[in-house]
Amino acid sequence: MDSKLQDLIQEQIGHEYYSSYLYLQMASYFESTNLDGFAKWMKVQTREEREHGDKMYEFLQDRGVRVILRALPQPPSNYTSPQDVFEKTLEHEQKVTSLINGIADQADKVNDRPTKVFIQWFVSEQVEEEKNATRILELLKKIKPDSGAIFQLDHHLGKRE
Ligand code: FEO
Repeated sequence: MDSKLQDLIQEQIGHEYYSSYLYLQMASYFESTNLDGFAKWMKVQTREEREHGDKMYEFLQDRGVRVILRALPQPPSNYTSPQDVFEKTLEHEQKVTSLINGIADQADKVNDRPTKVFIQWFVSEQVEEEKNATRILELLKKIKPDSGAIFQLDHHLGKRE
């Protein structure tokens, strides 16, 4: 397997586990502000990110590449409002999208067919990730943080499985 492509996926495993870590930190913020539905949504997100990292781990191992885990940075823990959290979530997902696209570009460049197929799932997943964060952010922009509407949204987000 092309060494640059391997390296990009090794790094991406770290980015996915970091995403899991970041969203758990955000869940903690929501729990501390009594928005348990938002916290639940973030905890589901945490689990999904862990699964993304696991998928990449399995893929590399299946290709005969030994995974070497990278150090994770400490995620930011200070947030000023739910809107602030979702602005940062969207920003983070946009960054992840560009990293995934970088892997897809390198797989195309070296014509690694298994990686081209594998990474396609993540390309589509990023469309969902950005869409979900954008929708919630747009709703948050329309409501005042201390209005009843925030609790309705909290209730709705808490239904995520
Ligand atoms: Fe694994 Fe949120 O992208």
